[in-house]
Amino acid sequence: MRSDDPRCVHLEAAGWMVVSQSWAAQVTASSVDHEVLFEAVQRARHHGDVREVEDGDLESVLALDSVTLADYPGGVATRHTPLTTSTARVTPTRRGFGVFDGGGRALAITYLDVDGPAAETDFTVVAAPFRGLGFGTAVKAASLLGLLREGVDVFRTGGAEGNSAILHANQSLGYVVDEKWLTLSPRSDAETR
Ligand SMILES: CC(C)(COP(=O)(O)OP(=O)(O)OC[C@H]1O[C@@H](n2cnc3c(N)ncnc32)[C@H](O)[C@@H]1OP(=O)(O)O)[C@@H](O)C(=O)NCCC(=O)NCCS
Repeated sequence: MRSDDPRCVHLEAAGWMVVSQSWAAQVTASSVDHEVLFEAVQRARHHGDVREVEDGDLESVLALDSVTLADYPGGVATRHTPLTTSTARVTPTRRGFGVFDGGGRALAITYLDVDGPAAETDFTVVAAPFRGLGFGTAVKAASLLGLLREGVDVFRTGGAEGNSAILHANQSLGYVVDEKWLTLSPRSDAETR
């Protein structure tokens, strides 16, 4: 539940424990700096093709997902659900943006669910050997640029407390943290973790 939910105090008094924390953030069309987004995409272009995920990318997207499943920090609230052929397939409301090498291998991807003027990031991942090169920031910037062009106005995202890389990537693109979430567990469950 949200950290400002009054029920948290009662639950903690009743012995529940905070087992993980997370945050949510938002950026809107009126607050993005297009120059910052272009620069973030440009930086990754030195290493690969930064573009929207297409039907032909299905296999390479699934391959990147399967080798990175254990890499997501956090608890149940931020758990990544492994992609299936159905959830990896892009549609007008299920969109993906990635960095691809010359052979079409996905090095980084982000997926978003779009609902009219609002988009919510599902997940973002970079292949382990390519982390720290700006790819995570680049795919998120590409998603903003691509969807802003289509009239999407509000972008939401989130992550686990302590996942500094994704927090910094989002903040550098204009996302502002506006919610903190707590995952609570009855003491007996929490103590056996
Ligand atoms: C999170 C992830 C997508 C970030 O991608 P990345 O390409 O490594 O990140 P970038 O190189 O774009 O760096 C983004 C920011 O984080 C910082 N950063 C990078 N790696 C970091 C690390 N290990 N610890 C702390 N900060 C880090 C960078 O300096 C940069 O900050 P800045 O903009 O203030 O300079 C990547 O680490 C990953 O795939 N992690 C596993 C899956 C995951 O946790 N996904 C996010 C939840 S959906």
